[in-house]
Amino acid sequence: MKNLKHLNKYFLKYKWLLLMGVLFIAATNFFKVLMPQTFGTIADLIEDQVKTEGADPNGVFFKGLSLFGIFIAYALINTFFLFLTRQTIIVMSRLIEFDLKNEIYEKYQKLSYSFYKVNSTGDIMNRISEDVSHTRMYLGPAVMYTINVFFLFVFVIYFMIQKNSELTMYVLAPLPIMSFIIFKVSSRINKKSEAVQKKQSALSTFVQESFSGIRVLKAFGREKHFGDEFDNESENYKRANLSLAWTNALFIPVIVGLIGLSTVITIYVGGVKVIGGTLDVGDITEFMIYVNFLTWPFASIGWVSSLIQRASASQKRINEFLHTEVEVKEVEKPIDEPIKTIEFKQVSFTYPNTGIEALKDLSFKVEQGQTIAITGRTGSGKSTCAALMERLFDVTGGEILINGKNIKEFSLEGFRHRIGYVPQEVFLFSDTIGNNIAFGVDQDMDEETIKAAAKAAHIHHNIEQFELGYDTKVGERGITLSGGQKQRVSIARAIIRKPEVLIFDDCLSAVDTETEDVILKNLDVIMKDKINVIIGHRISSLMDADQIIVLENGKVLEAGDHQSLLELNGWYAETYQQQLVEEN
Ligand SMILES: Nc1ncnc2c1ncn2[C@@H]1O[C@H](COP(=O)(O)OP(=O)(O)O)[C@@H](O)[C@H]1O
Ligand SMILES: [Mg+2]
Repeated sequence: MKNLKHLNKYFLKYKWLLLMGVLFIAATNFFKVLMPQTFGTIADLIEDQVKTEGADPNGVFFKGLSLFGIFIAYALINTFFLFLTRQTIIVMSRLIEFDLKNEIYEKYQKLSYSFYKVNSTGDIMNRISEDVSHTRMYLGPAVMYTINVFFLFVFVIYFMIQKNSELTMYVLAPLPIMSFIIFKVSSRINKKSEAVQKKQSALSTFVQESFSGIRVLKAFGREKHFGDEFDNESENYKRANLSLAWTNALFIPVIVGLIGLSTVITIYVGGVKVIGGTLDVGDITEFMIYVNFLTWPFASIGWVSSLIQRASASQKRINEFLHTEVEVKEVEKPIDEPIKTIEFKQVSFTYPNTGIEALKDLSFKVEQGQTIAITGRTGSGKSTCAALMERLFDVTGGEILINGKNIKEFSLEGFRHRIGYVPQEVFLFSDTIGNNIAFGVDQDMDEETIKAAAKAAHIHHNIEQFELGYDTKVGERGITLSGGQKQRVSIARAIIRKPEVLIFDDCLSAVDTETEDVILKNLDVIMKDKINVIIGHRISSLMDADQIIVLENGKVLEAGDHQSLLELNGWYAETYQQQLVEEN
């Protein structure tokens, strides 16, 4: 239960719904328990009619009929309150489900980038969908049936004792045995349903992965292999489910059998008492109905306990994420001001998940109106450098200063709003090209602004050629853009924000040199008084930068402007010569 504590705040939030629900449950059970009494009275009437000679059959009939009318009235009131119960408790569970999903999603948004590197998408999805729905079964049905069992027991046992306390003892005698057996069986069910859950999670992760990698999967002709693997996973899932079904199948017969035992005891002991003249036939009738009333509640104890255990396991996993610390923290009193300078002071960074030291003692400073270029071999730490500038991660050594102040003092949102970032791996949302460009600004940005950004990114003329222009859908169910086109849409998306810092992470690699020239010329105008960070391999795109840093294994290999680097005659000069030859 301690895992489920997290949900108490929601019970508090919806306390009125819960309280009303409890009252309705009490009412529905009260009228339910009254119903057998009218039956008992009818049975007694008939018994009298049979025993007494010369009694008026018509009188008995009408009396019986009116009692039957009362019975119907009780039944109607009972169901009316049952309806209200569901309208309060089940509605409450849906409201809490909604709140909980929002709470988790909000947390997901806050969690740092590294969280998504460590946890699989399938897992992240499962916790907000599967697990929350398990939790809801606790909030709604489990709570409802528990309160229900409580009131039904109190009322039934009260009325039974009123009728005959000795018979009550006999009837209730098998119940402890029953409770024990139900507990045993339901624990088995819990264990097995946990196994089912695990297999289901494995299955959905597998499916999810094979769909996101469908292009590679097909290109490599691995359909059969994946199909077999899927069969395997499905087989495991099926086995776990069948095993659960087998245990479940045992459950109901055991309960029905035990309830049957109680009924037999009622009839035998009661019959002996009737013959002895200490009990009426009507009383036995009532008792039998009461015993049957207990059938479902008893079954539900086992069921409810399995619901609660499952919900607890789910909530435990949800809590794990809810309590995951946000690594990149927002400060209490953040500052928000235009970015004028960025300075790296002996910055080192080690990836927490792999322990790879991606940057070592990196220092540089860049000011408004300047362009800094970072180059070097793949894996030398260029993208890491970009990620740190945006504070996707916090440095593990040294510090990053913005306007001379530690980057951690800036409000995250305000800070990132001022940055235009073009990632190395382009990602476009399954939406129109227009909306993809306007992603970082207001979605209903006017068309002119979107076009201007597209023109600056030298993609406007391509978009115009599409039949639907800016309304063309891209992504999963839309057209497939070429690598270079995607990069340029991504560039337009960064430019439209009118950023104070523009970071290009290797994003000109898939466009030809002429397009690159056009884009860089446009940037000269747009980013005139701003900070430009260009990461790339092609020297032609970096050579005009004010500073150029060559990284190797996270350390600065060479640094300076184009001219001084050429004079250095090292890696940079050599690479430049090579690229010139290639171009010619
Ligand atoms: N998210 C990550 N988690 C762990 N290690 C990473 C991650 N991203 C990059 N690395 C590692 O950090 C080093 C630098 O990578 P990166 O900055 O991407 O280089 P570049 O952009 O120059 O190709 C590489 O050794 C790479 O394997
Ligand atoms: Mg990179």
